[in-house]
Amino acid sequence: MLDDVIEKLRKEFIEKLKGIKDEPSLLNLKGEFVGRKRGKIKSLFKELGKVSSEERGKLGQAINSFKSFVEKSLSEKEREIKQKTGKKKGEDYTYPGYRIEIGKKHLLKQVLDEVIDIFLKMGYHIETGPEVETDYFNFTALNIPEEHPARDEHDTFYLDFEKGKDKFLLRTHTSPVQIRTMLKKRPPLKIIVPGKVFRKDEPDDTHSPVFHQLEGLVVGKSISFADLKGTLITFLKALFGDEIKVRFRPSFFPFTEPSAEVDVLLDGDWLEILGCGMVDPAVFSEVGVDPEEFTGFAFGLGIDRIAMVKYGVKSLRYFYDNDLRFLRQF
Ligand code: PHE
Repeated sequence: MLDDVIEKLRKEFIEKLKGIKDEPSLLNLKGEFVGRKRGKIKSLFKELGKVSSEERGKLGQAINSFKSFVEKSLSEKEREIKQKTGKKKGEDYTYPGYRIEIGKKHLLKQVLDEVIDIFLKMGYHIETGPEVETDYFNFTALNIPEEHPARDEHDTFYLDFEKGKDKFLLRTHTSPVQIRTMLKKRPPLKIIVPGKVFRKDEPDDTHSPVFHQLEGLVVGKSISFADLKGTLITFLKALFGDEIKVRFRPSFFPFTEPSAEVDVLLDGDWLEILGCGMVDPAVFSEVGVDPEEFTGFAFGLGIDRIAMVKYGVKSLRYFYDNDLRFLRQF
């Protein structure tokens, strides 16, 4: 009788084992048959107590051999499953190694670092400011009047919340950090401000809604336009080489007076790369610096523009497309 039971269980086990494909169901099956408390084999042994002593030895053997059959089959199945699903690259020492790709800096970051480095060597230190600004810091404090075209909805990303009299926007230039710094630190000052700026421009070869600037501000006693020129020419020679031809063109910015734009001559073309000027006394008065005692100059470089000019990149869009075929060249 017990013989038949063992035979039935053996068939049941073989049938169930066939359907096993993963470790959790294998563990279940293991529990069902060789579980220490309620396993089916355990109950077979319990039945042994009820049979006659003549039969007991033979049946005991039969159960034991069934038990080892089950255990052997289970561990074979386990090995099989592990080979199929559990094979991890790191555990298999015969698996060929894989190359770890080491990234590199984006061209814009490389150029920014190079520019920063030149100014650090000239004794500047770095300040930063928020990319979300108030219209006070971005415009008003910089002597940019209410009706100035730069404030236009079409040019500026305004955010749709206000706090008191403040409107919030994505900064359109790094110049607000001039104000923030002068409110916080007394002159003499010699700072640069690298960062992202935003304008509502349709992207094309020379426009992008986000680009990068590096602002400079020097404030002290008897700082002159000659200092401005000397500084920028020294910078441009360090960046483009001693032979570079530089041109200062009169221009206008509400926060500098006089103002200029600077071009460099490359391959027969004059290319504009920065705006600059002497800090307007109205700006000093706004931040509580006495314009009788202090003078200063400021400049703003377009980093993307410099990268295009220096590396012969024809469109701004390449910087933001993230196409590795472009980026890997630098
Ligand atoms: N903020 C100006 C711009 O974005 C550049 C500038 C900076 C001009 C500092 C003069 C002085 O166009």
